[in-house]
Amino acid sequence: MTLAQATLPKLQFKNVSLSYRTNKVRHRALDGVDLELADREFVAIVGPSGCGKSTLLKIVAGLAKHTSGDILLDGKDIGTETPPGVGMVFQNDALLPWRTVHENVRLPLAIKGVPSAEQPARISELLELVGLAGYASYFPRQLSGGMKKRVALARTMAYDPDLYLMDEPFGPLDAQTRVRIGGEFLKIWEGVGKSVLFVTHDVDEAIAMADRVVVMTAGPGRIKSEHLVPLPRPRDFEEVRFTDTFQKLRQLIWHELQSEPPADTAQV
Ligand SMILES: Nc1ncnc2c1ncn2[C@@H]1O[C@H](COP(=O)(O)OP(=O)(O)O)[C@@H](O)[C@H]1O
Ligand SMILES: [Mg+2]
Repeated sequence: MTLAQATLPKLQFKNVSLSYRTNKVRHRALDGVDLELADREFVAIVGPSGCGKSTLLKIVAGLAKHTSGDILLDGKDIGTETPPGVGMVFQNDALLPWRTVHENVRLPLAIKGVPSAEQPARISELLELVGLAGYASYFPRQLSGGMKKRVALARTMAYDPDLYLMDEPFGPLDAQTRVRIGGEFLKIWEGVGKSVLFVTHDVDEAIAMADRVVVMTAGPGRIKSEHLVPLPRPRDFEEVRFTDTFQKLRQLIWHELQSEPPADTAQV
């Protein structure tokens, strides 16, 4: 690997703006966003509702098109379709209801061209990893919200992306399940070390997981501030919250968020 490759950021937003057009009205959702994600870095984004967090991820995923600016993935323009190597986990992730857990996780393997003979072992491994060994033959309707979320996670991991885009992935879960599955994801991530762009409204979750927390302004969204999280890894997702470093950072980020009024009440 050359030095240039070693230091090339995984993802770069350069002066990215986006305006949505609805009923002939233009709505500026992002305004000059500059942000970099290093290879294998975990960056969490927090910001008031409606500030453009989802929009930011959607552009990278090829689900929205920026009006101006540049987005580079591994140094190259992302283009207009979902780039290979990018995997998404969204808040309301839908599993295919007519397929079993096994089949839901198998799909990305098939799409990736993993030989049929190798698929069952890989599926078992992934289900074990997310704590669902023994549930392979269940259908989504037979699972709890937390379990469905785990299947969605296993499915994204089956795709084995280099860059995970996660939009409030644990949003709909109850607080207890959220902490448990968050902790599990953190452990898995610390083992595989992929790049993650993680949107959450939970400041504690952001600090406990990320290498860096990015705060956005109320819409139109810009980067307001960035905070390195100097907590050693591996981290205990719960215990880490009792450290001084965590508490100070939490206070600082809360303070910054409080000075940003919600952009609107709509959550898209
Ligand atoms: N498809 C769309 N068409 C028009 N406006 C949209 C669309 N998606 C999002 N918006 C608007 O853009 C702004 C940013 O939305 P979003 O990225 O979903 O914010 P966040 O995820 O931070 O809550 C909001 O004001 C929202 O109403
Ligand atoms: Mg959102």
